[in-house]
Amino acid sequence: MEAIKYTAGKLTLLDQTLLPNRVEYKEFDNYRDVVKAIKTMQVRGAPAIGVTAAYALVLAALEFRELGSSEFKQKMAVASKELADSRPTAVNLFWAIERMKKIWQAENLTNGEIFETMEREAQAIQAEDLAMNETMGEIGQELIAPNSTILTHCNAGALATAGFGTALGVIRAAFEKGKVKRVFADETRPLLQGARLTAYELMEDGIPVTLITDNMAGYCMQQGWIDCIIVGADRIAANGDVANKIGTYGLAVLAKFHKIPFYVAAPYSTFDLSIKSGQEIPIEERKHDEVRKIGDYWIAPEKVEAINPAFDVTPHSLITAIITDKGLIKADFQENIKRVLGYGY
Ligand code: MRU
Repeated sequence: MEAIKYTAGKLTLLDQTLLPNRVEYKEFDNYRDVVKAIKTMQVRGAPAIGVTAAYALVLAALEFRELGSSEFKQKMAVASKELADSRPTAVNLFWAIERMKKIWQAENLTNGEIFETMEREAQAIQAEDLAMNETMGEIGQELIAPNSTILTHCNAGALATAGFGTALGVIRAAFEKGKVKRVFADETRPLLQGARLTAYELMEDGIPVTLITDNMAGYCMQQGWIDCIIVGADRIAANGDVANKIGTYGLAVLAKFHKIPFYVAAPYSTFDLSIKSGQEIPIEERKHDEVRKIGDYWIAPEKVEAINPAFDVTPHSLITAIITDKGLIKADFQENIKRVLGYGY
């Protein structure tokens, strides 16, 4: 399942807002429309947003390549800022924008050379993401005992990445080894990524999946049905605190109470070592109508007050291990993140 495709100046995205009812790809030839696609979550998931932003900047470089060098750089800075402002929590977005910036800021290249180098870099980012997910799958599946039932939240699968997935990548790898009995997928209100995307993705792969509403997770743990929990991440602070889809924190607290291992799977591009703890992670507040409605249908009085934080922060003390492409990270997180990712990062 490929959510992001690029060929010769055209970016094609699988419109995730339409899944599972319609599988529809949309073509993009300018970065402004890609910014809208990220904001409206036609493309979503931390690594997928990063890859998409890289390609959006390739489209910008193509659009502006005939301009003089200084105007070209000004326009590229504006495009980068618009992309950076699209969603605030997933650090992969900023990581990819920075990687591309190193190229378009170069003084010794023509605009044409910049465009070509950026195109190769975006393709490299996409290929690296897929490879990192496969590595995480291999590393993470070691943690899964035979005959496991695994709970996951939101969608951290192929759709959220360049392919294979982070949390779902580990599940896929464990399933290939015959270790996964069943996956429980939280529906993940308000935008239902678990119901719409994770259930769809796992069914496409023939992995047994049971859909639950978010408020059933505690019951399932209490019944002894869940052997471990694996989720993705949008940003991980230097001390190991993890921002992920709203509801992740509640799951981690429940997991601690029920003595169920709680794993986070994320590539190195999801770590933000510039921030000390999760308290510094900006949490996106989305439109309140997403809570008052399901799709186009009002499920609450139109004028009722609501809040809509899209993410929450799980303190590292609730996490059993973080599965990364560079290896497994356990407590002491502060120390081991630096050691596993390398001090230079
Ligand atoms: O709002 P979303 O759908 O972009 O949120 C996605 C998540 O929270 C995922 O768990 C996270 O990005 C990891 S995806 C590999």
